[in-house]
Amino acid sequence: MAELTTQYMGLTLSNPIIVASCSLTKSVDGVCACADAGAGAVVLKSLFEEQIKADVKELERNIWISGHPEAVDYVRNVGLALGPRQYLNLIEQAKQKLSIPIIASINCVSPGQWADYARSIANAGADALELNISVMPIEPERSSEEVERMHFRIVEDVKKRVDLPIAVKLGPYFTSMARIAAELSRRGVAALVLFNRFYQPDINIDKMHLVAGYRFSSPEEMNVSLRWIALLAGRVACDFAASTGVHDGAGVVKQLLAGANAVQVCSTLYVNGVSYIETILTQVNEWMEQHAFGSLDDMRGKLSQQESDRPELYERMQYIKALVGIE
Ligand SMILES: Cc1cc2nc3c(=O)[nH]c(=O)nc-3n(C[C@H](O)[C@H](O)[C@H](O)COP(=O)(O)O)c2cc1C
Repeated sequence: MAELTTQYMGLTLSNPIIVASCSLTKSVDGVCACADAGAGAVVLKSLFEEQIKADVKELERNIWISGHPEAVDYVRNVGLALGPRQYLNLIEQAKQKLSIPIIASINCVSPGQWADYARSIANAGADALELNISVMPIEPERSSEEVERMHFRIVEDVKKRVDLPIAVKLGPYFTSMARIAAELSRRGVAALVLFNRFYQPDINIDKMHLVAGYRFSSPEEMNVSLRWIALLAGRVACDFAASTGVHDGAGVVKQLLAGANAVQVCSTLYVNGVSYIETILTQVNEWMEQHAFGSLDDMRGKLSQQESDRPELYERMQYIKALVGIE
C-alpha cells in the first residue's frame, strides 16, 4: 500500500479525500458515515452568516431594549456567544465520536461582528474553519479592488479572533486570481479551496421562469481548478484543496500532480454513495503502485507549472495550439 498521508492546513490527514461541505455532513450520523467510508477529513455543512446574525436579532426581539444602546451591545455579544447552538453541538459531537479532522464552514458575504462566532467554533473543538466567501459582485459601480478588499477584511476579522487554521473557498470569477490568492495567503490563510461551484440558474422555456440548474457537477468541470492549482501551487505560500468536478481516483491523481494537498469531493458521493470514497482511495493507490510512487509527497506538484519543463503549456500557448489543432 502506498503512503496516502497528507498535510493540509497544518493538520495530518490519513489520506487526501475530504468530504466537501454539503448536506452529507450536516449531521453526526452523516459525518460518521464519511469517516467509516475512509474520508481523510470532513467539512461540515456551512452555517450562513445570516443565520448567525438572525440569532442575535431573535434575542434582540425578545428583550425590550430600544433606547438602550449599551443593552443592545450587550445582547449582541451574548447572542454571538451562544450562536446557533445546534451547529456547535454538531462540532462537539463529531469531535467526540471521530478522530479525523473536523473542519467547520461559514458561508459569508461581508465582514462584521458575526466573526465573533468563530470563537465559539474554536471552543467547540473544530480543527479548522473554512470560509466560503460567496460575494456576488453584481453592482457595476463596485470595482474589482473593492471586491478583493471585502475578502481581505473578512479574513482579517476572523483571524483577529481565532488561532484556528483558516481556509478560504473561492469562486473562479476573479480578474486576477493570482493576486487574490497571494494576498489571502499573506494574510495568514492556511489553505485555498479552488473552487466553489455556485448555484447554477437555468430557465424553463415552457413555463418561462427561472429554475435551478443541475445541482451536481460533471468531471469536465474539474479543469478550471486543475489549471489554477497547477499555476499557483508552490508559488503561493499556502495549501490548496481542489474542489468541483473530482469524481474518481483519476481526478484525485490529477489534482495531486497539479499540486493540491487535498481534494474535496461532493457530487460523486451523492451519485455513487458515500462508500465510493473507498473505491476512490483504491484507484489512487493502484495508480501510485503502477507508477512507483511510494507516497503522496513524492508525486505532489510533479505537474505544477513550477516543476514543469514546459511551463508555457499552462498559459496562452496551449490555447493557441488547441485552436490551431481544431482548425
Ligand atoms: C447539495 C449540496 C449542498 C452544498 N452545500 C454547501 C455548503 O453548505 N457549503 C459549501 O461551501 N458548499 C456547499 N456545496 C458545494 C460543495 O461543497 C462543492 O464545492 C461543489 O458541489 C463542487 O464540488 P463537486 O464537484 O465535488 O460536487 C454544496 C453542494 C451540494 C451538491
